[in-house]
Amino acid sequence: MKIGIIGSGEIGGSLARRLSKLGHQVSIANSRGPGSLADLAAETGARAVTVHEAARSGEIVFVAIPAFKIADLPKDLFDEVDADVAVVE
Ligand SMILES: NC(=O)c1ccc[n+]([C@@H]2O[C@H](COP(=O)([O-])OP(=O)(O)OC[C@H]3O[C@@H](n4cnc5c(N)ncnc54)[C@H](OP(=O)(O)O)[C@@H]3O)[C@@H](O)[C@H]2O)c1
Repeated sequence: MKIGIIGSGEIGGSLARRLSKLGHQVSIANSRGPGSLADLAAETGARAVTVHEAARSGEIVFVAIPAFKIADLPKDLFDEVDADVAVVE
């Protein structure tokens, strides 16, 4: 399954490790950009992407960032995401 993850901390990083190990195609993003995720990508095989790419690359998208930072996400983040994509916060 294609899975997008926004947030690469305790929760996002754990999801990326476990879901990649199970064979899912994981795309993961954080606030600092794909370059900051090189180590996690090398470790897990997940794709390091932008937040827009993470939102648009999954059949499921996990939003794993602190609640008070949700307002910082781009307002158009899910604009081009299919209506049948499940977003888990
Ligand atoms: N850790 C737990 O045990 C636990 C348990 C239950 C629930 N939760 C909840 O799960 C959520 C995530 O917690 P966490 O412990 O994983 O947090 P964390 O370790 O502090 O990681 C937060 C992540 O969010 C990213 N982030 C913040 N603002 C962003 C933005 N505007 N765009 C993209 N990425 C952004 C950060 O990226 P940068 O590093 O680039 O800033 C970081 O990768 C929170 O709502 C928390 O309350 C956590």
